[in-house]
Amino acid sequence: MSQDINRQITVSAFGIPPDAARPSEAPVPAPGRGELLVRTQYAPINPADLNVLEGRYGTLPQLPAVVGNEGAGQVVAAGPGAEPSVVGRQVFYLGRNDCWQDYVVATPDQLVFVPDEIDPRAACMLKVNPATAWLLLRHRGDLPAGSWVVQNAANSGVGRSVIAIAKAEGWRTANFVRRAELVEPLLDAGADVVALDNDDGKAEMLQAIGGEPVHLALNAVGGDSALRIMSMLADGGTHITYGAMGRRPLKIPNSFLIFKGLEIRGLWVSRWLASAPRDEIEGVYARLGDLVLEGGLEQPVDATFPPSQVGDAVTRAAEGGRAGKVLLDFRPGATEGG
Ligand SMILES: NC(=O)c1ccc[n+]([C@@H]2O[C@H](COP(=O)([O-])OP(=O)(O)OC[C@H]3O[C@@H](n4cnc5c(N)ncnc54)[C@H](OP(=O)(O)O)[C@@H]3O)[C@@H](O)[C@H]2O)c1
Repeated sequence: MSQDINRQITVSAFGIPPDAARPSEAPVPAPGRGELLVRTQYAPINPADLNVLEGRYGTLPQLPAVVGNEGAGQVVAAGPGAEPSVVGRQVFYLGRNDCWQDYVVATPDQLVFVPDEIDPRAACMLKVNPATAWLLLRHRGDLPAGSWVVQNAANSGVGRSVIAIAKAEGWRTANFVRRAELVEPLLDAGADVVALDNDDGKAEMLQAIGGEPVHLALNAVGGDSALRIMSMLADGGTHITYGAMGRRPLKIPNSFLIFKGLEIRGLWVSRWLASAPRDEIEGVYARLGDLVLEGGLEQPVDATFPPSQVGDAVTRAAEGGRAGKVLLDFRPGATEGG
């Protein structure tokens, strides 16, 4: 596993994502007192990473910077005073925005240890999307067993995590997608109802729900799609916007606020990661790790690329119609798709 250079993806100027992300090299860092050296295996390219490359995100690095919001690997060395028994353990990066590199020197609180049995490709995607889905579903805290949750972009990493967690926790999901070929795969993944994200799809979905109340609507699209799921909520229901894939603002009828008493809010997992007690964070990831190991929580992978092909990887990640996540494969000797 050892290698004498540290391959990195750096950004010198924000811009068009495939042009902004450039491969570069640096010396392998050494862990200092209390620090651990981690060798990255895989890192996903999320919509948030594309937004960072464009220079349009909630937090942006000072340039030039190594980027990458998420990734996983193995501890390969412990600095003086750090616990040596963790060498060899699988971890994912927490609170790091420079994950797209072979080697990261981290303090233990910047890492979450995960069971070595978890596939490293799943481990690298644990931090963001499953935790977001968990927080979305837990926001109300009072969802009765069997409750309906409606969401759009249901095929996304978050959407699939919502389906998996809801199924494990005893809630039912009504899922909108924009491609008919996704209906069967999402039903196979545990979705209760899947329909196309249009007015006919909504009618189909309402019939399947059969007049039962929908308490929670999860929006990652915006515009008409967000309005569609909002309009399905029962009085007092909650609409949470967590993404804006359609790049359209919300349209909120006044009556939804005044007469239906809807709660309309947003959620950002980074806020939770920055403020929640460590015990709570560890507990959530332990539960999510169990779900992965039980086979219930899966984010499919569309393609993998070595860091030398980051431009192709980013181009693919920015395309619609993918079969899952695009991952950067930092394993030595990795090739495209390998
Ligand atoms: N707030 C938070 O803390 C948080 C955390 C995680 C993610 N997010 C956000 O959640 C969203 C999904 O992220 P992800 O990583 O789960 O996504 P992903 O796995 O990369 O999938 C993207 C999804 O968006 C759909 N999509 C793309 N463009 C669309 C458009 N114009 N209209 C409707 N649907 C569109 C895709 O549909 P097709 O499959 O048909 O192409 C796909 O289902 C992103 O906006 C991301 O930034 C937010």
